[in-house]
Amino acid sequence: MSETRGRIAYITHRAVFSAAHRLYRDDLSPEANQSIFGKCATPFGHGHNYDLEVTLKGPVSPESGMVMGLAELEAIVDREVISKFDHRNLNRDVEAMAGINPTAEHLVRVIWKQLEPALPAGLLHNVSCRETPNNRSHFKGEH
Ligand code: NI
Repeated sequence: MSETRGRIAYITHRAVFSAAHRLYRDDLSPEANQSIFGKCATPFGHGHNYDLEVTLKGPVSPESGMVMGLAELEAIVDREVISKFDHRNLNRDVEAMAGINPTAEHLVRVIWKQLEPALPAGLLHNVSCRETPNNRSHFKGEH
């Protein structure tokens, strides 16, 4: 087992959730909102099936052979993100998103802030969220 001691590895947990949103700014005209946000500015909102990936980077424990137990990671993602975001309206129902235009870029930053304090220090490496099959945002923290 000693050959794995101190080695760094990455693990990624995937979780999916469905949520509604509308992208818009109150201070802009309907035409300007449509120009910037396109279909996502539709007045009464719409849904996306978000595909979240949470990646940890850290040393492989010589005892467990893991960076972190996957069941524990899954439980944290479920408690901190999925239970709060799934089947919610991101503009109205999610406390962590209050006052934030729910773009995918903002979403991954908010999810990072939700997860970082709940995980062992220094392990969170990347939060990635796919909003559509062709578009995904990533956040790797403030560095
Ligand atoms: Ni949208």
